[in-house]
Amino acid sequence: MKIAKEFSKHALYYDSYNTIQKKVARKLIADMKSKPKNILDLGCGKGAVCNEISWKIDNFVGVDFAEAMLSSHPKSDAITCKRGNFDDTQLFEELKNEKFDYIISASALQWSVDIDKVLNSLSNFNLPISLAIFTCNTFKTLHKIANVQPLLLCSDDIKKIADRYFKVKYELVSYTLEFNSKHELFQYIKKSGVSGSRKILSYKQTRKLINEYPHNVLEFEVLFIHSV
Ligand SMILES: C[S@@+](CC[C@H](N)C(=O)[O-])C[C@H]1O[C@@H](n2cnc3c(N)ncnc32)[C@H](O)[C@@H]1O
Repeated sequence: MKIAKEFSKHALYYDSYNTIQKKVARKLIADMKSKPKNILDLGCGKGAVCNEISWKIDNFVGVDFAEAMLSSHPKSDAITCKRGNFDDTQLFEELKNEKFDYIISASALQWSVDIDKVLNSLSNFNLPISLAIFTCNTFKTLHKIANVQPLLLCSDDIKKIADRYFKVKYELVSYTLEFNSKHELFQYIKKSGVSGSRKILSYKQTRKLINEYPHNVLEFEVLFIHSV
């Protein structure tokens, strides 16, 4: 629940800070091999996935645990939002009775506390999936200089888990985001909700990190997973 608060708190800033997430959602949808009409989107946020869908849909259900995100998600006869936590198996029990033919998730599942459990639950739907998951190489240089362990799983760990439940293909994509100054870069980390609620550095350590960080660029790495 801690992370949900962080995202809600930053929902206000999210539009100006979600450049990478927008690119990720665009690529994820562009690379899908079918145009499903009944879609479940996990960690839907303000609707980046929904906004990329250009074909006619019958039923799109976006799930997110942050009310502030859901309130800005597009809604229509065919698009509904559901408040729910994908780490809670009860959510999947509730969704079992809905008709879906595809499961999508963009830039959200890296926050799962147990991605194995989530993918296991998803496999019970027996549906094709398209997922984009941020990996441990996100903020690689920053973590190295600060000497902290990445919060996120590495791509090989995610692949090992996904291979247990799905027949999928993978693509690993690196992104960089450039800032006008280091100040802007660190403001982004603070305001975009990407730090997962973690405040592990003291003020002094943060100052040292800002001084030693070599450039105005942040690195991201995303594993794209599509059913074959
Ligand atoms: C980086 S945003 C991505 C939103 C959207 N899918 C996009 O592509 O822009 C991650 C979203 O996942 C949601 N989220 C994180 N953990 C969650 C959980 N356990 N259950 C439901 N939603 C979660 C957050 O509230 C946030 O809206």
